Amino acid sequence: MSSLHDQALTQLDVGELKPSHRGKVREMFDLGDRFLMVATDRISAFDVILPNGIPGKGKVLTAISEAWFAALEGYVPHHLISSDPADFPEQFAPYRSQLEGRTLLVHKAKRFPVECVVRGYISGSGWKDYKRTGAVCGIDLPSGLVESQQLPEPIFTPATKADEGHDENISFDVMVDVIGQDYAKHLRDLSISIYQNAASLCAERGYILADTKFEFGLIGDEIVLIDEALTPDSSRYWQKEIYEPGRAQDSFDKQPVRDFLETLSWDKQPPGPRLPDDVVTATIDRYKTVMDHLTDEARPLAFKENAWT
Ligand SMILES: Nc1ncnc2c1ncn2[C@@H]1O[C@H](COP(=O)(O)OP(=O)(O)OP(=O)(O)O)[C@@H](O)[C@H]1O
Ligand SMILES: [Mg+2]
Repeated sequence: MSSLHDQALTQLDVGELKPSHRGKVREMFDLGDRFLMVATDRISAFDVILPNGIPGKGKVLTAISEAWFAALEGYVPHHLISSDPADFPEQFAPYRSQLEGRTLLVHKAKRFPVECVVRGYISGSGWKDYKRTGAVCGIDLPSGLVESQQLPEPIFTPATKADEGHDENISFDVMVDVIGQDYAKHLRDLSISIYQNAASLCAERGYILADTKFEFGLIGDEIVLIDEALTPDSSRYWQKEIYEPGRAQDSFDKQPVRDFLETLSWDKQPPGPRLPDDVVTATIDRYKTVMDHLTDEARPLAFKENAWT
């Protein structure tokens, strides 16, 4: 009997070709001055990759990234070259059917070792830090904020990328120590301005972009946006309609998975439990809904100067 699980691409089968890096969701193939970045259908919860994937999730994430990169054209340089398999190196041609729709050919950059997080709302690790200290990444916030509340203005809360486990929030001063003042200021201002623009475009489509994480790198002297852009895996998308400050919000995409996991006594250590078909279906429906709102060809996303008012 076939089930939804069989259709999810959780493991690439590309013969002798070996990825140079395997993330929880994506695999990177090193092509010298470029990378081929393949988004699988794997899904993680509490940093554990679950045994079955979400069919089509990698394609959804890729389409969303592509739509945002297109919107950013002319606003900030980015790494995307092409998503057309015809442009991929010849050795990948036999695997076209696996790669199509979930693969981006990108320029390789020298990555800044900092995750550029912008928060317009207080949630997640930001909320935890605020409750404990009244500040996030050294930025003092007004007292009396409730969970998920909108901040007076978006804040830049960088993090270091941990090889193992969770990323660690750092202060802007530490970021300056790591990459230097000029780059740190530039990445901060750029991140906030992309967030503001993206958040106002999301709002027009019924979503609150609560926060997001960018990565940047250098190609020669040029600062470029790399990695994925504004996907539900790197950002919190909340539905405006059901937003209610004072509590944790439903994660738009992963909530069915979290709700299911809550019903188990799983200790959040690998191996994770298998997701039942109805949870898989509910999750893919959510990912597709976000994608449909963001990739509507009749209403392409387009950045404006000074979008945040
Ligand atoms: N254009 C680029 N040039 C150089 N490095 C890049 C580029 N785009 C993305 N990267 C890097 O490639 C890696 C992609 O890995 P990926 O995000 O799949 O896994 P991860 O970050 O190691 O872990 P996680 O699964 O938690 O995200 C990241 O380290 C990212 O910084
Ligand atoms: Mg990553």
